[in-house]
Parts: sequence; C-alpha cells; structure tokens
Amino acid sequence: MDNKLSNRGTTVKQAIASTAAIYERVKTIIPPEEWAGYADDIVAINRLKKEHNAIILAHNYQTPEIFHSIADIVGDSLALAREATKIKADVIVMAGVHFMAETVKLLNPSSTVLIPDPDAGCSLAESITAEDVRNLRKLHPGIPVITYVNTSAEVKAETDICCTSGNAKKVVESLGVPEVIMVPDEYLAKNVAATTNIKIISWKGHCEVHKRFTADEIRMYREQSPGITIIAHPECSPEVVAEADFTGSTAKMCEWVAENKPKKVSLITECSMSDNIAALNPETEFVRPCNLCLHMKKITLHKIRESLENMTYKVTIAPDIAERARKSLERMLEVK
Ligand code: 13P
Ligand code: SF4
Repeated sequence: MDNKLSNRGTTVKQAIASTAAIYERVKTIIPPEEWAGYADDIVAINRLKKEHNAIILAHNYQTPEIFHSIADIVGDSLALAREATKIKADVIVMAGVHFMAETVKLLNPSSTVLIPDPDAGCSLAESITAEDVRNLRKLHPGIPVITYVNTSAEVKAETDICCTSGNAKKVVESLGVPEVIMVPDEYLAKNVAATTNIKIISWKGHCEVHKRFTADEIRMYREQSPGITIIAHPECSPEVVAEADFTGSTAKMCEWVAENKPKKVSLITECSMSDNIAALNPETEFVRPCNLCLHMKKITLHKIRESLENMTYKVTIAPDIAERARKSLERMLEVK
C-alpha cells in the first residue's frame, strides 16, 4: 500500500509524508491506516485549490478528514452564510448539503459555487415547497413568514426573512409582531416558542437525524454515565431539549464545550460533530450516540477532489428566484 503509485505519480508514502503536519491535528481520531487512504486526495485538493483560486467551506457535520484537513472555513449554517458574503475567490466548494451550497451562491453570486454531490439533500428542505408557503400565507394573511435556511431557494424566495438554528429567536423577535409563521422545522419552531412570548405557527417538517433522539434515551445516558453533560441541537424534539443541559446550533455547541470543558459530554446531534470537537478538546470524554446524516455523508474527500478537477457540480439558481431568496437571507444577516 505504502509504495503504490497515486494517479499523480507520487507514492502513497510521499503523500503521507507531505501531510504529516495535517495528520497531527487528527491523529487522536483517525488511525494511521485510514489516513493512508486520504493522504493522496488531500495533497491533490490542496494543489487544486491553488490552481483554481478556490476556497472550501465545510459544515460542522463533515467528517474529520474534510473538516480538519482541507477546509478553509468551517462552521454552522449562520457562520458559513456570513463568511460566504466576504469570500473573494473564483471558486467556492461547499462541503455540506445542497441548501448550504445554494445559500453560498445567493450570497456570493459572482463566484463559481460547486457542490461535490448534488444529491446531498436534507429532509427539512424536502418537507416544504414554494406552493406550501403561498398557501400558508393565504391561510394566515398578514402574518410574516420566517424560513429556516434548511430550505430550497424557491422556498426562501417566498418568505420575508430566513433564520438559522443560531439566530432563530433573535429573528423572531426582530420583526416586532405578536405572531409569526416559522417553517419548516416543527421542533425548532416549538423550541423557540418556549423561550418567547411571540406566537409561532409551525409546519410539520423534521430533521430525520434529530427526530430519532428520544427523551428516554437521554435519561438512559444520564443513568449509564453519572455526571455527564448533555448538549442538544434545537432540531431535536422539545422533550429531548427539556432533558438537555444546553441547547444551541452546532457552532454554539462547539463553543460551549471549549468554554465549559465538561469532563464527559454527549452531543445530541449528528455523529461527526463529536469527532471534530474531540480532536480540539482532548481533555473531554465524548459519549457518542451515533445518528448519521446520510446526506452530509454523501460528501467525501474524493468527491471534493473530483469536484475541483472537473468543476462539478455548479450551483445555479434562476435569476428571478435568486433575487427574492437573496433578500430573505440578507434581511437575516442584518439582524444583530
Ligand atoms: P447548524 O446551523 O446548527 O449548523 O445546523 C444545520 C443543520 O443542518 C443541523 O442539522
Ligand atoms: Fe438536514 Fe438533518 Fe441532515 Fe441537517 S442533519 S442536513 S437538518 S437531514
């Protein structure tokens, strides 16, 4: 294996040697045998980034070999959206799901935005259409519509303002009205409603990953690991959130662990988060319930390499949709 020639004529051994400094960051979570399978792609991706003046954005749910090795900017949906407005690059690769790549294209229209696998979807984004939003408006005339960023550009185009899990409460309260419609995540809407006096009309969408966690399961973790800290994502059901010590977006979960340094923690969210944070917080023990997002996992190191080699898959949004969807995102970014 070590002396096998890679497609660029270098040996795997050479690729491992030239990625040794990068491997240092992940050596506690990726075994060396596994790294041997990644090193050649990492070398190629870093070369291709320079050749194409490309930047790679990665969501916190990407696997550690992507998150810690080739990503230029990592974060939650809100941070990635904010960063997207500032990037000056010819090409941006979104290592995340399709709605995230669309968000980048909307906020940075002059760059070529690539998604390594266009089928990387999201159960929330699939739970609502533009027509559903138009019908909701007819049903509740005059009530503003807040759309979670986990939606298609077509849905964003029908709404007043977007939100993420990191700013949902602030966005709801920024509108200065007694009642709002918040789509499509029923649990996020209910979790926000529990913290504000504003009435929230919700939709019936769910994240297929977070809805699998149950309150019984959380109580079982506490019994099995006395003293454990439980941190949940707000896409979990209100019953799960009620059992947690802290609830926040993926970025807020990372910050909470770094600041509070719990001895033992369980992140009630997608699996790769624990791996990524564990590499940065070696003193904390992570108890890992593993619910994978199969959409996020469609993005691999090798597909990112192919994406930069072939300039695939380009994200395009019809101009009339883009103009309206962009306004909803920009309004969200104005909320401080
Ligand atoms: P964050 O915005 O908290 O990163 O969440 C995005 C997401 O898809 C969670 O499932
Ligand atoms: Fe969508 Fe859930 Fe996957 Fe996030 S974890 S991308 S909300 S399916």
